[in-house]
Amino acid sequence: MSAVGLGLDTTFDDTSVAILQGKSEILANLTLSQYQEHEEFGGVVPERASRKHLEVIHHLIDGALKEANLDFSGIDYIAVSNHPGLLGSLLVGLTVAKSLAYTLQCPLIGVNHVEAHPYANVLKHGEMPFPIMHLVVAGGHTLLIHARDHFDNKIIGRSVDDAAGECVDKVAKMYGHPMPGGPVVDRAAMKFSGKDFDFPRPLMHKNAHNFSFSGLKTAMLRFREKSLKTSTKSAESPQLLQEEGAILASFFQSVVDVLLHKTFNAAETFGLKNISVSGGLAASRKLHSAFEEESAKRGITLFYPPPNLCTDNAAMVTCLAAHRYEAELFDDLTLDAYPNLI
Ligand code: KG4
Ligand code: ZN
Repeated sequence: MSAVGLGLDTTFDDTSVAILQGKSEILANLTLSQYQEHEEFGGVVPERASRKHLEVIHHLIDGALKEANLDFSGIDYIAVSNHPGLLGSLLVGLTVAKSLAYTLQCPLIGVNHVEAHPYANVLKHGEMPFPIMHLVVAGGHTLLIHARDHFDNKIIGRSVDDAAGECVDKVAKMYGHPMPGGPVVDRAAMKFSGKDFDFPRPLMHKNAHNFSFSGLKTAMLRFREKSLKTSTKSAESPQLLQEEGAILASFFQSVVDVLLHKTFNAAETFGLKNISVSGGLAASRKLHSAFEEESAKRGITLFYPPPNLCTDNAAMVTCLAAHRYEAELFDDLTLDAYPNLI
């Protein structure tokens, strides 16, 4: 009988609890998003996020056990993301995880949340082959990770400023859309051609495998200010809404072009034939089809998760932990939480 893990993810503004059998059978994966809690403040308020995690985590654990038709005696190990993220939020998940591991006298496994994102693919497709180039496009991180094996990873590229997801959220906000901005931008990108406006593609052919998205964000801000000054159309007019869709589609085309170019270029540099994409922004249908098309053209094997496993979830965290459980890579109760990526 394969091991059953209970995993917790409270890194940022989503509380998630999962139960996984073996390395990929999801028995439960419950996530409660806090976006509405923070809307009136225009961004996530760390103190509020921690309180909300605390309020809901035990209900989610009960719900997950019920869904899996298990009680605590059926749990073999506890997994938790202990970095990176908001310290207060991380501490809620970590403290609950430690209490459970201590009480149940079972192994505790701490996981890097960002390293866990690619494992969404294992849940969907089964084991990925190594070596592989992982593109992780989460809200706060845009990373290229060269993975030679499960615990043998090297970050070979990252954003030197804003992450792609952060840039998308901020540009959507400029146009009056609430968090998260990704879905609205993706809808525009699916509807309009993306060729109507020519926005910058920062660092596309420079700085090796690193990314930069803050210049694109500023370019969008300047463009918006200028068009507001010169526009004669009223704010809700159909032409303006049509134009906004075309602008957001062209903006997202810049983001997609950079992500695509950098990822395939990195795979080529390292001689890799496998690519995975993961993280919340990967829930974009536009990004997915762009990667599908380019992979087919270049003969690359692409691993791409379904949208519900792209955004933050504890199943991917438990999946990475399941691989550590098999290798007997356990932590102890001195495990700490920390905000940084490494
Ligand atoms: O991975 P994630 O859920 O959280 C972090 O680890 O930060 O990523 C959040 C990002 C946000 O930028 C959000 O706008 C984007 O994922 N996102 C999407 C979609 N759903 C969430 N982007 C495009 N299409 C979506 N459907
Ligand atoms: Zn994430």
